[in-house]
Amino acid sequence: MLPNHNPTETAAWQKLETLFLTMQATHMRELFEEDPERFKKFHLQFEDILVDYSKNILNEEVLKELFNLANEVELKDAIDAMFRGEAINQTEDRSVLHVALRNRSGSPTMSDDEDVMPKVNQVLAQVKKFSDSLLGGAWKGYSGKPITAIVNIGIGGSDLGPYMVTEALRPYWTTVTPHFVSNVDGTHITEVLKRVDPETTIFIIASKTFTTQETMTNATTARDWFLEKTGGKGDVAKHFVAVSTNEKAVTAFGIAPENMFVFWDWVGGRYSLWSSIGLSIAATIGYNNFEKLLSGAHAVDNHFRSEPFEKNIPVVLALIGVWYNNFFGAASEAILPYDQYMHRFAAYFQQGNMESNGKQVGRDGQPVTYQTGPVIWGEPGTNGQHAFYQLIHQGTKLIPCDFIAPAVSHNPVGDHHAKLLSNYFAQTEALMQGKTLDEVKAELKQAGMDAEGIARHAPFRVFEGNRPSNSILFHKLTPETLGSLLAIYEHKIFVQGVIWNIFSFDQWGVELGKVLAKKILPELTSTEEITSHDASTNGLINYFKRLKSL
Ligand code: F6P
Repeated sequence: MLPNHNPTETAAWQKLETLFLTMQATHMRELFEEDPERFKKFHLQFEDILVDYSKNILNEEVLKELFNLANEVELKDAIDAMFRGEAINQTEDRSVLHVALRNRSGSPTMSDDEDVMPKVNQVLAQVKKFSDSLLGGAWKGYSGKPITAIVNIGIGGSDLGPYMVTEALRPYWTTVTPHFVSNVDGTHITEVLKRVDPETTIFIIASKTFTTQETMTNATTARDWFLEKTGGKGDVAKHFVAVSTNEKAVTAFGIAPENMFVFWDWVGGRYSLWSSIGLSIAATIGYNNFEKLLSGAHAVDNHFRSEPFEKNIPVVLALIGVWYNNFFGAASEAILPYDQYMHRFAAYFQQGNMESNGKQVGRDGQPVTYQTGPVIWGEPGTNGQHAFYQLIHQGTKLIPCDFIAPAVSHNPVGDHHAKLLSNYFAQTEALMQGKTLDEVKAELKQAGMDAEGIARHAPFRVFEGNRPSNSILFHKLTPETLGSLLAIYEHKIFVQGVIWNIFSFDQWGVELGKVLAKKILPELTSTEEITSHDASTNGLINYFKRLKSL
């Protein structure tokens, strides 16, 4: 059980409030001028992953109090409780053991007095067998042809993780092309089905509950399509497999038990890519590479569990996030990978963060009196630079950013990567330094502008600077490195949830909409005027019904 606390009542929080008054009037330029050792002091390294957090509006005093805050909320005990398999997901009465899924050490991991490792390893062996037989060509479709495509049908955690990872690890693809269908919008499945051949495609129905409306609808449509295309000759058993915790529902759907890959209720949907939900990953990049992804995450799990907070990357990143979220009032954080392969990384952690820490009730069941999880968003650089960086540089909002980049590209064409990385370095420098009015004026003068022109144009070209960022730089985007990066961000969410005294592993907030949609569905086909909702919802439904009959 995680203890209950109000973080704002800790001594560290009070001190941080005082420190904030000084720090909000401090420019990072000054901090760098005062201390040439700033980079040396404020960076951490895990294997080849460097995390530079020196371009933040903080100093050693602030950090000390942030670490004190972590101690006062008993973070170390909370970390141990998670790894020990305690039921820290109290609102669902479950352990939180995604770390067991990637436990490569062989040491026991307990949940409900049971060592879960034998069953974890058993399912991993099943995942290996499946992906080996797919990629080795042994698994044949109903007409005897080897499989060349998989379609993962899932949503949320049963889609975003595998989709993000397979995209990030495209250089490791071999003979099987993955496709992903998530949206209940019929367009999604229609467009994917246009691209695959029933003779050479396997559908992976991925759903923890196997009751999710979107997934079950898409799965049924895929099965109907398959049977229709194959003129009833297609053997569903050779083309449909399931990944779920719900054996009964899988069987009821018609998937043979030998084609079912289980996982367990102690794996949260948004933390499930390490489980058999990663089947589409293993079937795309090969089991060996999937195992490397797990190993990279496991290495960070060890780091997170054993390093003192001062050297603990997820802890430091989480505390910096709390500093901006709760003291500077920053409402969002941007994740900006300078790697096109990582184009779904921010979207993945949008779910990871916002479903985990988007909570307003504390662990004591009372509304919290402080801010919890920030809005997470982002796009790859340099695309974002030509879209939304204007606001990050000159807008009225403070948006702490993470800049992530590999030193070496999988595609070393010409000077593309040097250009990409020059932008990566330039952006954090520009955000931190800014450009003063005097600098702008001098520049315009140098460019030959007259005094009147300078006075008119200069204010718009000023960059206040002092915009915080973390820079994460590593050698190359490999399965191990990606695994490590994912685990760093996952644990950051955990730490913040502990500090904010919320339950990070449930998601009751998505239920109400689901329930109401079920109620509305039959109303959309009925002939009567709808009057059972508020005036707006009634009006919209009735207008929709008139439109669709045009
Ligand atoms: O959106 C709510 C949610 O329960 C997510 O937490 C989960 O990842 C997603 O739906 C899909 O759920 P399932 O895997 O059970 O289909």
